Amino acid sequence: MNCAVLHANSMEDMSMEKKTMKALVVYGKDDYRFEPEFPVPECGPDDILLKTEGCGVCASDVKCWHGAESYWGSANKEPWVKPPFIPGHEFLGVVSEVGANVREYAVGDRITVEQIAPCGECRFCKDGHYWMCQPHYIYGYFTDYCGAMAEYVRIPTKHARIHRVPKTLPLSSALLIEPYGCSKHCVDRAQITENDIVVISGAGTLGLGMITYAATKKPKKLIVLDLQENRLAKALDFGANLAWNPAKEDVVKNIMDMTEGYGCDIYIECSGHPSSVVQGMSMIRKLGRFVEFSVFGEPTTLDWSIIGDKKELDVLGSHLSPNCYPYVIENMASGVLKTAGVVTKTFPLEEWETAFDYATGKYGNIKVAITF
Ligand SMILES: NC(=O)c1ccc[n+]([C@@H]2O[C@H](COP(=O)([O-])OP(=O)(O)OC[C@H]3O[C@@H](n4cnc5c(N)ncnc54)[C@H](O)[C@@H]3O)[C@@H](O)[C@H]2O)c1
Ligand SMILES: [Zn+2]
Ligand SMILES: [Zn+2]
Repeated sequence: MNCAVLHANSMEDMSMEKKTMKALVVYGKDDYRFEPEFPVPECGPDDILLKTEGCGVCASDVKCWHGAESYWGSANKEPWVKPPFIPGHEFLGVVSEVGANVREYAVGDRITVEQIAPCGECRFCKDGHYWMCQPHYIYGYFTDYCGAMAEYVRIPTKHARIHRVPKTLPLSSALLIEPYGCSKHCVDRAQITENDIVVISGAGTLGLGMITYAATKKPKKLIVLDLQENRLAKALDFGANLAWNPAKEDVVKNIMDMTEGYGCDIYIECSGHPSSVVQGMSMIRKLGRFVEFSVFGEPTTLDWSIIGDKKELDVLGSHLSPNCYPYVIENMASGVLKTAGVVTKTFPLEEWETAFDYATGKYGNIKVAITF
């Protein structure tokens, strides 16, 4: 089924419904078009048609727009994305139509959908590791899995992890469910205990989600590193004990001074910058745990012998947000996870280009979103 195609018959059936919608449609790299009258996707028997409430703009949406190789391929690499598609994987909305086979959800329910659309058939899906699904369809990059930078999204329920969102949860918090889900998984990988000195490097949206969740683990010290003062201030609001700027002070020396020269127990790297990897490998103690979360724009150069011969580290990766949405939704609603001031700006879809520009952070914003 194709989200860009509306069958003529269903068009007649839906004569009372809205037939077209505003959508941001991607035809190719650097070929993103706002379409005021794009066909509303057809709601098949196993589908939910979601009326979008809001959709965060992710750094990856911006990278894809500018044609990054990891999305569009290169001379030796097949493209990952399949245009035409509608971007947007950080979304929520209200069910506006359900297919005949859909029992669990009804018109009017407020829901969100995990970014991964598991195939259900590959080795990883079958053994429960759905977030590593081999074909790896993510909403917002494929014709058949269009995202939510549109008034409506088709959710094929057989390939969707759907979660209810309380109607009382403000949109400014609910827009953070997807990123905070990823933050939670990463912090879980770190297995923080009350004896640990934990460093989180990078206090963007993802780092802030990690900080507010990591604070619930009550580590001995939670230290945050970032280059931007407003983000360091927010890190302290969200539960960090100390917040340092590596451009202004010698953060490796600070950690060594406070740990009798041993180093921090856990280092979570979520800055997206190679310098933060090197910094972490320098300040982590022997037998420490290093968790890598970032997506890098360039390779990191490091003396790899630190991992084995010098420190015998546990180096772990973290990808997406497996089984994290229910916790995040519940704990955002109860106020355990802090969200205030993370969504700094919202735009209507017509202004998507400005929204993408603001999402780079160059005007001091943290999370930028499109709202409907
Ligand atoms: N693994 C996953 O599943 C997953 C999911 C979402 C995002 N990501 C990645 O996570 C990373 C963080 O995302 P974000 O949206 O919060 O990014 P962001 O760019 O908003 O935040 C990164 C922060 O790191 C800071 N920084 C840069 N160099 C630093 C250094 N040497 N030390 C400390 N801080 C430094 C920057 O000032 C910035 O505030 C990105 O690379 C993103 O692509 C990974
Ligand atoms: Zn994202
Ligand atoms: Zn799969």
